[in-house]
Parts: sequence; C-alpha cells; structure tokens
Amino acid sequence: MPTTGTKKKGVQEGHPSGDPRYKGIDRVLKKQHYQQDALIEVLTSAQEAFGYLPEEVLIYIARQLKLPFSWVYGVATFYHFFSLKPQGEHTCIVCLGTACYVGKANEIVDALQDEFHIEAGQTTPDGKLTLTTTRCLGCCGLAPVVVLGEQVLGKETPESTVAKVKARLAGAQVEAAVAAEAMSGAREETAAT
Ligand code: FES
Repeated sequence: MPTTGTKKKGVQEGHPSGDPRYKGIDRVLKKQHYQQDALIEVLTSAQEAFGYLPEEVLIYIARQLKLPFSWVYGVATFYHFFSLKPQGEHTCIVCLGTACYVGKANEIVDALQDEFHIEAGQTTPDGKLTLTTTRCLGCCGLAPVVVLGEQVLGKETPESTVAKVKARLAGAQVEAAVAAEAMSGAREETAAT
C-alpha cells in the first residue's frame, strides 16, 4: 500500500459539480485527514451515497487521497461488498463456495437465471433484482446459502429460493401500492379541507 499522507496544498476542497452525494465522501475524507489508509472507509461512504461505485467517483477518491487510480480500482474490485455497477432494488447473492457448491447451489443460480431472465452479475431491466454469486460466506453449516437483501437463508433449494425472491418482489409492489394509496388519500383530505 502506498504510504499514508495528508492533503497537499492546491487541491480543490469538495467536488466541483456540487452534487450533494459527494458531501458525505468529503466529510469522511476530512474526518480521516485524507489518510490513504482510510480508503476502504471512504469507498464505503461513497457506495452508501451512490448505491454503487461509478468510475468518476473512484477517480475523485484517487485524486483526493493521492493514490493511483489502479490502486483504488483494485481495492474496489477485490472486495465483493463493493459494486461497480448500479444495483437493483433487491439483491440476491448465491454462495458458490465449496460446501454450497456441493449442496448444488449452482442449480439455484440456474433456476433464478431462468425465472428472472438474467445472468448472474446482472440486474433485471426494471431495476428490481440484482443476482450475484460469491465465495464462502462463512456459514457453511447452512449450505447451500443465499442472501436475499439483508436476510441470510440456509438449506435452500432452487424452488424455495425462487419462491422467496418472487414473494419479496411481490411484497415490494404491495408496499408501494399501499404507500401510493395512502398518499392519494392524504391529498384528497387536504383538498377537501
Ligand atoms: S461455502 Fe457457502 S457459506 Fe461456506
């Protein structure tokens, strides 16, 4: 890793675009005194702000930390919790580590790909679901393991996973419909007063 350092004179404070999403990144940069060792923390704040790590954000972070872009890009692609592509509203991660693979996790991936017409690593055209695979998640006793959103699912089968993903997507639609209805009700009440 390149040596740690402090921000040099003459470097612009804050992103010139004025995009408010850069403000959270700038806050972490300042808090960490532009230390290169804070790269992972800065990348994490960037992903929280943008939902993923666009190339221009990686370039910005590399400049601010005085690191080579290749270094920042390498770190962002090394850790599976960073994504360089926009993620869907829901994520489904299938573990393909040894224990899960032996438990036929590859068949779960095949079933999801067939059901939602996407390949692993892709997002559905409506932006609702991103399907990815990963290596061992460290809970092999539950193999095969799927992570749906924040929920860790164990002892999965192709059928059970497809059913749970469909339920989650349907649930999201129901919640959105209820929220829309509540909004229109509130508008009507306001208009009547
Ligand atoms: S191999 Fe899947 S959790 Fe370990």
